Amino acid sequence: MSGYVARVASEAKHQHLFDSPDLGEVVVDAASLQARVTELGAEITRDYIDRAPLLIGVLKGAAMFMTDLSRAIALPLEIDYMAVSSYGNATRTSGVVRIVKDLDIDLTGRDVIIVEDIVDSGLTLSYLRKTLAARGANSLEVCALLVREGLQKTDEDLRYVGFRIPPKFVVGYGLDFAEKYRNLPYVCVFEGDG
Ligand code: IMP
Ligand code: MG
Repeated sequence: MSGYVARVASEAKHQHLFDSPDLGEVVVDAASLQARVTELGAEITRDYIDRAPLLIGVLKGAAMFMTDLSRAIALPLEIDYMAVSSYGNATRTSGVVRIVKDLDIDLTGRDVIIVEDIVDSGLTLSYLRKTLAARGANSLEVCALLVREGLQKTDEDLRYVGFRIPPKFVVGYGLDFAEKYRNLPYVCVFEGDG
């Protein structure tokens, strides 16, 4: 597992996209996100050269990451989305994962890359892997933008990782709290009541 270690900035003051008492320190700023996504795209391009991978985005959190990552991969790839529910509106995992929207594209013989926003306990990913592995793909890898350090309950094999972040709940760049803050172009600490 690779991935840069993101540290919470020490400076207390940050200019946020909009005013909210819930928004804390920036964990990954917009420029760092874009730079890392470009690197991941180049890495995937090299690894999958002469192939046409199928990227599977996990809605809704991975939506922003997917649109940027896919444009950084110079291959004739395809995109599909799945929606699973594991969190409700709380900031802790329930351990229960349910498919809310399944794939449209057949996985048989495909080189599949699951695109995830964040791996916390790893339960969502372990469920997705198990489910998708049974569908006849040629290969199955994971590209996670963020991994929260130290909290994984399952030992997931993560081929591509953007950043490893400290154990704090974060929002922005697709990640939400109660459906809010997905549109922040950076990732920051959520300081509201979880
Ligand atoms: P896991 O099953 O515990 O690994 O949780 C993974 C899912 O929980 C992610 O795909 C997110 O949707 C959500 N999640 C976990 N941590 C955060 C966070 O810090 N902010 C927002 N969503 C999160
Ligand atoms: Mg998610």
